[in-house]
This record gives sequence, structure tokens and C-alpha cells, in this order.
Amino acid sequence: MSDPRPIGVFDSGVGGLTVAAALMDRLPNESIRYLGDTARLPYGTKSPTTVQRYTEKNVGFLIDREVKAVIVACNTASALALDGFHADVPVWGVIEPGADAAIAVTRGRVGVIATESTIAAGAYRTALSRRRPELDIHSQACGLFVPLVEEGWQDDEITETVARRYLAPLLDADIDTLVLGCTHYPVLIPVLSRIVGSDVRLVDSAASTAEAVAEGLRANQLEAPSDHRPEHHFFATDTAERFARIASTVCRRPITLEHVDV
Ligand code: DGL
Repeated sequence: MSDPRPIGVFDSGVGGLTVAAALMDRLPNESIRYLGDTARLPYGTKSPTTVQRYTEKNVGFLIDREVKAVIVACNTASALALDGFHADVPVWGVIEPGADAAIAVTRGRVGVIATESTIAAGAYRTALSRRRPELDIHSQACGLFVPLVEEGWQDDEITETVARRYLAPLLDADIDTLVLGCTHYPVLIPVLSRIVGSDVRLVDSAASTAEAVAEGLRANQLEAPSDHRPEHHFFATDTAERFARIASTVCRRPITLEHVDV
């Protein structure tokens, strides 16, 4: 059995393109429909009820485009909206694959950085402790990272100063692994790795999510045929200009974007 229908991916903005890019690398036969909910970004400061409402609308939009599964690339939406979420297709988030990736490399002391709402929900802490209850976990909300990346200041001295301040308590706690619990943070890897040094492993959930999706498609007999030629479509809920500017950096591919109302 195979299924040529596309995979739906949504994020609050462009950051989820890190996950879309990992999916394109790992599953080159699969088509993608990507929705960036740029009109309502940021999710990372919003309440669970609001993020749940947005998530339902975004998943519905993608299902209307006949996707066979939805990947919630947004960490905040994965953390706040997926418990008990029901849809007509499988819906997979990024927290569990991110926790798996951290468990695979940690020696016992894990730092988690994410948006304010993801940290408040404790989603990574719960997912990590469920796997290894004895882990020493230190969390830090990094509210300024998303705007800095959106501004294109991913490798800037201001970003480095901000990052040093956020990471200081985690370095004091002697973490050996740092989970990048937000779509935008992989873009900051050069700065972050300079600050934490080579002894701390950086865990980006994009690659492990792509691996989990590959497994999920296989288990549900939803894989595209091996000779399938993929087509990708990108949608955003706000005007396209800002999205397009950042998208090529994040996705490493040229992107054509359609403006939609959700
Ligand atoms: N996509 C969000 C996340 O991964 C970051 C951007 C936002 O706050 O909406 O948590």
C-alpha cells in the first residue's frame, strides 16, 4: 500500500521550515503543504486555549487540502494543543521526537530552552522525565530569540549577549545536553554552540521528527510510491514578503508562497 497525498506541516511562522526541510531531506518522495500562521505569530506568549483554537483551525485548513497526516512543527502548539487532540488524519508533534533525541545523547543533565508558553506547559520536562525519571532537567524561557531570528540577526553580537544571559543558569547547572525546544532556535546554532562549547550536545528536534514521521508513515501504510515526484506548496496567513525573506535561510530552498485566510 502507498499513498501519494501530501504531508501537512504547520507552524506559527517560518521557523517550522526547519522541520519541513528535514522532512524533504529524509523523505524525498513526499509532497508537503506548509502553513505558516504568520498573522497570529507569536504563539509562544499565548495561552493554551488560544493556541488550541489556532491549532484546530490550522489542522482543518491542511485536512481541506487533502493531506494524509499533519506534523505540528511548532513546539508551542505541540506542547499546548496536542493532548487529546482528535482529527481525521494522524497528527504528530515535535516534543516526543525531541525528547527521544535528547535521551539518546545525554549523560544525565539536560537544559531545555523554548518559548515562555512551552516552558510553562512543562512539555519537554514531562516527556524527558517519562523516559528517564532520574534526569536532572533545567528549563529556560528565551523570549527574545524568536524576534531576533525574525529580524535576521541570527549571528549578531546583540544576539550573542542575549544568549549568554539566557544560558548562564544552564551552564552554571553544568548541563551536558541542550534541547532547542523552539522552531527558530536551530538558526541560532552557530551562536549557541560558541557559548555552550563543544562538551554540550545541541539537540534539534527537526531531524528526529523527520525520522519519527518516516516511521509513522510506514506504520500507517501512508508512504508515497517510490517513483512519486513531490510537489511542495507553502501558505501563510499574513502577507508573504516577510516570510519569503526569512524562508530561504531557514529552508535552504527557493519558495513560492500563497497568502491564505484560515
Ligand atoms: N513556532 C514557535 C515554537 O516553536 C516559535 C514562534 C512563536 O512563538 O510563535 O515554539
